Amino acid sequence: MSANGEGLGRVLTVALGLCLVCSIVVSTAAVLLKPAQQANKTLDLKRNILMAAGLLDPSRSVEEQFEQVETRIVNLDAGQFVEGVDPASFDQREAAKDPAQSRAIPNDEDAAKLVRREDQALVYLVRTNGGELDKIILPIRGYGLWSTLYGFMALESDGNTIAGLGFYEHGETPGLGGEVDNPRWKSIWPGKLVYQGNEVAIEVLKGSVRAGSAQAQWQVDGLSGATLTTKGVDNLVKYWLGEEGFKPLLDNLRQGEVS
Ligand SMILES: Cc1cc2nc3c(=O)[nH]c(=O)nc-3n(C[C@H](O)[C@H](O)[C@H](O)COP(=O)(O)O)c2cc1C
Repeated sequence: MSANGEGLGRVLTVALGLCLVCSIVVSTAAVLLKPAQQANKTLDLKRNILMAAGLLDPSRSVEEQFEQVETRIVNLDAGQFVEGVDPASFDQREAAKDPAQSRAIPNDEDAAKLVRREDQALVYLVRTNGGELDKIILPIRGYGLWSTLYGFMALESDGNTIAGLGFYEHGETPGLGGEVDNPRWKSIWPGKLVYQGNEVAIEVLKGSVRAGSAQAQWQVDGLSGATLTTKGVDNLVKYWLGEEGFKPLLDNLRQGEVS
């Protein structure tokens, strides 16, 4: 073989060896870091659940604060808690994709663009020292302009007064739809009401709520310059608080049929 040919062979051997070593390092790191990533994700969810309910104290550990939260699985159609299944083993996002654990939503009922709705969902309960329900935190999701927004809505024990709302995952534009994360906008939600009689009346407006108007209790200002994200939030909130979402459970809680 010529000197040039030998040189090329060595370069290729070194390059291939380097590729092999790098791929082993990267895949080993990915495998070793997976449990830590999963733990961080779970911790972040817990932080967001506490935050939505207005219970997060940044000076204390999230794990310690989350001990006051009871995680339950609910059958959405029946509005009843499911017994005998460990909530830690239930993956709601997977359930929503699985035809055996979800159903397709007809197009004309799918304003939140969910495509499928899971049969069972997680809910989080916070109780008073006496064991009475204090807050219920509901997972919500739906499409904005660019992405599915995932978040939580917390309600007071009446199942009607909003305690807070927050999104922990979305791909809306920072400064526009991304303003769903703005603490000032999120602070508008607590105290607003969901139901007027038996109807879901909460709405996110395009524009601002008229101060003192009769409907103001059920209305939230939209995000300026982000009409489509605003509409997405309006749609998803209405869906998850409606008959197809958590309304059967909230009705049962109000009537004392589940506790
Ligand atoms: C780069 C870019 C990013 C945008 N991101 C968002 C967004 O995240 N959410 C949103 O509702 N609108 C976003 N918009 C604006 C929408 O395209 C659209 O103009 C607006 O939501 C409609 O509001 P209007 O009915 O008040 O005109 C974005 C526009 C541009 C050019």
